Amino acid sequence: AGPRTVSPTGQETGNPPEVNQQGGAYLTTATGARVRDTNHSLKAGPRGPTLLQDHHLREKMMHFDHERIPERVVHARGAAAHGTFTSYGTAEKISRAAFLAKGAETPVFVRFSTVLGSRGSADTARDTRGFATKFYTSEGNFDLVGNNIPVFFIQDGIKFPDVIHAGKPHPDREIPQAQSAHDTFWDFVSLHTEAQHHTIWNMSDRGLARSYRMMEGFGVHTFRMVDADGATSLVKLHWKPKLGVHSLVWEEALLTNGVDPDFHRRDLADAIEAGAFPSWELGLQVFPDNDEQMFEGIDLLDPTKLVPEELAPVQPVGEMVLNRNVSNYFAETEQVAFHTAHLVPGIDGTDDPLLQARHFSYLDTQLSRLGGPNFDQLPINRPHVPVNDMLRDGAHQSADHRGVAPYQPNTLDGGCPFMAGADMSAYEDLAVTIPASRKVRENPASFDDHYSQARMFWRSLSPVEQHHTAQAYAFELGKVYEQVIKERQLLALANIDTELCQIVANGLGLPAPAATVEVADVDPSPALSQVGGQWPTD
Ligand code: HEM
Repeated sequence: AGPRTVSPTGQETGNPPEVNQQGGAYLTTATGARVRDTNHSLKAGPRGPTLLQDHHLREKMMHFDHERIPERVVHARGAAAHGTFTSYGTAEKISRAAFLAKGAETPVFVRFSTVLGSRGSADTARDTRGFATKFYTSEGNFDLVGNNIPVFFIQDGIKFPDVIHAGKPHPDREIPQAQSAHDTFWDFVSLHTEAQHHTIWNMSDRGLARSYRMMEGFGVHTFRMVDADGATSLVKLHWKPKLGVHSLVWEEALLTNGVDPDFHRRDLADAIEAGAFPSWELGLQVFPDNDEQMFEGIDLLDPTKLVPEELAPVQPVGEMVLNRNVSNYFAETEQVAFHTAHLVPGIDGTDDPLLQARHFSYLDTQLSRLGGPNFDQLPINRPHVPVNDMLRDGAHQSADHRGVAPYQPNTLDGGCPFMAGADMSAYEDLAVTIPASRKVRENPASFDDHYSQARMFWRSLSPVEQHHTAQAYAFELGKVYEQVIKERQLLALANIDTELCQIVANGLGLPAPAATVEVADVDPSPALSQVGGQWPTD
């Protein structure tokens, strides 16, 4: 859709589209002077030496030397596309957000990613996938920074550096690049049994997405929606792919990894170029907002738990279609900056301790990754509404701020808009009740159950999916050097399901331990079984 047209100060702007297109009758320096020759440096005679006064050589080399920026600390490898979200209007009754009004069309930018691999790693590694959506709404940007797995490894954001340190390559040998087949990963998840639920999803076929176009997306955390009268509901957000959920089998993933490490990004770009636009439905699970923030015995603030769909059906609220590829990977896919606190009136966060830590982390990491505090001015990050802030100066400032009084209220630049009768009611902070509290470093008891939902997931799988999952555990744990770690993980599996533990133990040639918790019978979730129903029973 061409260059951006609204500056951070709300003024009309934008680079002319002909800039930097590689064509044209002549090259210029960065400051617009014509370059006569970019193939030969200036030398004192044909055999040198090279002259320091060759500004074009120095500028060209200086810029090249600084082309790289740090890759994301997680989710470094990704692919993205533009599209549109169209609202059905069905969420209007619980959220005042303008982009959820019936018929509202909102431009979006979606970045899919793996989590652990570096920027140059392979697409088809066994991993969680990121599914981050930026909605450029008429009330500012709303970012839904989700994953393709509905739960997370940890319950408290203070553990995020730990789980990522354990999942990233070993600090000594820098292996493995992008897989969960190593001692530190299994050391962590066997010591932190709250990670077992996310891990079993990773070991299932869900860890081997067939295509970004065929993945679900989950907001994971519970969010709060606010209607026009200020009444609130708790919600979980889901993306449902129109193409259905599909996975690779392990052998396909391995072959693809070698034959085409760019498989997922190629698949996404080729499909869009061919006009086969991928689409998803956004859906909500809605829960009453009460002081307990529990639903059917499930703590809604515990990000290691999902709410089965037969207990709270996912209600469709709109459709997203991705229909335009990025034109420059670095400018868009690499420089996009998502943030869980990019919220709009009608949507708010909750006290989920993982979400709270994310609110700090994204701004902080982007400050160094994108080289200073002005990354929201980058074209891909700018909202599609005027910006009128008091943020000034800093590295890479590109806004031409006018006026003399960057403070509020003032009498010199026309006063304060908030005092001039503008209706700000939608922007008022929510009145939430904060119970009388004492400072603690502990989890609530409702976070204690680490196994029953992993067991529910395992028992919802079809036989062939169970086979794949058990094989994946045996393969990945087979790469672990330390026997004590394998034994500890087998104990966690015993607490999930005796049969699963036995199959994996057989694969590892180790005895299966007895469970240390009561392994109760649970009904498999029909919603989860539906997901599994699509694979042939080989
Ligand atoms: C990316 C931190 C949990 C989804 C990132 C980045 C950081 C981070 C630092 C790199 C951002 C950048 O450089 O722009 C954290 C922390 C977490 C957490 C501290 C927990 C306390 C989660 C969870 C999800 C998630 C639970 C999914 C619901 C993503 C996605 C990206 C990302 C999709 C990639 C965004 C993109 O494509 O640019 N996270 N994360 N993260 N995170 Fe998290």
